[in-house]
Amino acid sequence: MALLGSYSLYLIHIALLFRLCFAADPFANYELELSYITVSPLGVPQQVIAVNGKFPGPTLNVTTNYNVVVNVKNKLDENALITWSGVQMRRSSWQDGVLGTNCPIPPNWNWTYQFQVKDQIGSFFYFPSLNFQRASGGFGSFIITNRDIIPLPFSTPDGDIVIMIGDWYTRNHTALRTALDAGKDLGMPDGVLINGKGPFRYNNTLVPDGIDYETINVDPGKTYRIRVHNVGVSTCLNFRIQNHNLLLAETEGYYTSQQNYTSVDIHVGQSYSFLVTMDQNASSDYYIVASSRFVNQSLWQRVTGVAILHYSNSKGKAAGPLPDPPNDVYDTSYAVNQAMSIRQNVTASGARPNPQGSYHYGSINVTDVLADQFQVKGAYKLDFPNNPLTGPPRMDRSIINGTYKGFIEVILQNNDTVVQSFHMDGYSFFVVGMAYGDWTENNRGSYNRWDAISRSTTQVCSQGTVSRIFIV
Ligand SMILES: *[C@@H]1O[C@H](CO)[C@@H](O)[C@H](O)[C@H]1NC(C)=O
Ligand SMILES: *[C@@H]1O[C@H](CO)[C@@H](O)[C@H](O)[C@H]1NC(C)=O
Ligand SMILES: *[C@@H]1O[C@H](CO)[C@@H](O)[C@H](O)[C@H]1NC(C)=O
Ligand SMILES: *[C@@H]1O[C@H](CO)[C@@H](O)[C@H](O)[C@H]1NC(C)=O
Ligand SMILES: *[C@@H]1O[C@H](CO)[C@@H](O)[C@H](O)[C@H]1NC(C)=O
Ligand SMILES: *[C@@H]1O[C@H](CO)[C@@H](O)[C@H](O)[C@H]1NC(C)=O
Ligand SMILES: *[C@@H]1O[C@H](CO)[C@@H](O)[C@H](O)[C@H]1NC(C)=O
Ligand SMILES: *[C@@H]1O[C@H](CO)[C@@H](O)[C@H](O)[C@H]1NC(C)=O
Ligand SMILES: *[C@@H]1O[C@H](CO)[C@@H](O)[C@H](O)[C@H]1NC(C)=O
Ligand SMILES: *[C@@H]1O[C@H](CO)[C@@H](O)[C@H](O)[C@H]1NC(C)=O
Ligand SMILES: *[C@@H]1O[C@H](CO)[C@@H](O)[C@H](O)[C@H]1NC(C)=O
Repeated sequence: MALLGSYSLYLIHIALLFRLCFAADPFANYELELSYITVSPLGVPQQVIAVNGKFPGPTLNVTTNYNVVVNVKNKLDENALITWSGVQMRRSSWQDGVLGTNCPIPPNWNWTYQFQVKDQIGSFFYFPSLNFQRASGGFGSFIITNRDIIPLPFSTPDGDIVIMIGDWYTRNHTALRTALDAGKDLGMPDGVLINGKGPFRYNNTLVPDGIDYETINVDPGKTYRIRVHNVGVSTCLNFRIQNHNLLLAETEGYYTSQQNYTSVDIHVGQSYSFLVTMDQNASSDYYIVASSRFVNQSLWQRVTGVAILHYSNSKGKAAGPLPDPPNDVYDTSYAVNQAMSIRQNVTASGARPNPQGSYHYGSINVTDVLADQFQVKGAYKLDFPNNPLTGPPRMDRSIINGTYKGFIEVILQNNDTVVQSFHMDGYSFFVVGMAYGDWTENNRGSYNRWDAISRSTTQVCSQGTVSRIFIV
């Protein structure tokens, strides 16, 4: 009797928690089925991973505080898991869909994720996290819109457009995985896809005939919110729209201080919202370009995605050369300056997660300092270094014994010759500093302690360092 009594008490306790976390807010239910389909984005038929028969997958569009219930059915021939990139999984971080916290979903099984997008807004994307499957697709946009009572920090856009850009191989993920497992480099990608489609034929030598390209239809005079995600494997892409300014408004869940850019570098895993006004005369269609960055352009020419911006009153097809990429071969500070120019709009209303009072992150004392050098990672030891290491790289794995509710400063030093992306699944962190060369204590003096952007993915330039503070 006593046992039964305490058992039911326990049940009530659970039920109450459940009510607090879930019952008050609406539910959004989705069914996502992963399967193979055959398409030819670059003119070569290949099997890709579709979601509900579509490549890329459907957009999941929810509102702040919604309880999201997603049943994922795996119709592939191998285990799969879906992860939600920068969506913060507080209270249910084990549902972030990566190996270690989630069991894989075996072929022909399904699994239901349930999490709440508490205090969040913004642009994210989902993708398969196992077996290199994202190189074959399985991704889609994940949008969290403001609640109606919370004003946007800009006029309501006339439309909401999703553009997914990413490098692409005609080899499938199994073939790519086999190459990687054999210690081989993947080599240059075969192209860049925009919304799952190959390039518009802007040059007859570079682009074969008969490729299906993406067209974005717009009306003159209107302003659209264009959400761009780099869903690729490894290539940083420069995004630009011919003759149009990109007014940056949001990145991965934070409204930014609004600034115009003619082009923006978007690293693998990053998402941005741009407000784009259709203020041109529509004498022709306009190019939308995503071209590879930080590589030898003359060798990587075909690694360029080209889509078409088509005004409803357009007088003709796009023609001529593509708009120029940044000309910064001799200016290493250009890319770093652009990255550090992306700052939060600290006065913008709208939901922002605020664990441990992180609105004031710059005045919170740091409890732990961690340093990571790429290709230098500490097997479950507790000896994670707190300063960049010297000496030859060492492959290792480390568990970090963080302080509960503490603030951690992480220093990433990239000694490699290629740009790297650093991603923290289910969390975001403040990018407080970025520079070339070795990190020293003096770099702390130049940290942005006021309006640094908080995000889930950052680049670490070759021969460079990035320092950030984030929350445990
Ligand atoms: C992937 O490519 C390999 C080699 O080309 C092929 O044997 C395999 O069937 C393909 N797998 C899928 C799922 O398309
Ligand atoms: C999910 O799998 C369970 C068995 O684990 C099955 O009862 C259920 O019908 C499946 N649901 C869907 C939507 O496939
Ligand atoms: C910041 O947000 C406020 C409030 O919504 C808005 O009025 C202002 O224009 C924004 N400032 C910038 C620089 O984006
Ligand atoms: C998402 O939903 C909001 C509100 O229902 C709508 O205004 C917006 O256009 C949708 N965005 C996309 C990309 O579907
Ligand atoms: C197409 O690209 C090739 C190779 O870069 C170049 O030589 C040629 O001038 C380009 N053609 C046009 C019409 O721009
Ligand atoms: C951005 O550029 C547009 C023109 O495309 C202009 O109307 C707007 O004022 C600019 N905004 C800012 C914040 O510079
Ligand atoms: C349209 O705009 C382009 C570029 O801004 C300009 O070169 C062209 O002369 C304009 N055409 C007309 C018909 O106004
Ligand atoms: C880029 O590649 C071209 C063609 O192989 C080569 O001639 C050129 O030297 C390379 N440029 C750089 C900066 O490495
Ligand atoms: C940070 O530490 C300093 C020195 O120990 C202390 O004076 C200060 O109050 C602390 N700040 C916060 C926000 O806890
Ligand atoms: C990284 O490069 C710097 C010089 O730029 C050197 O001081 C440091 O020892 C290198 N670290 C590793 C692990 O190679
Ligand atoms: C982690 O740190 C706490 C507090 O310093 C300590 O009590 C605990 O034993 C540590 N855990 C491990 C696994 O070292």
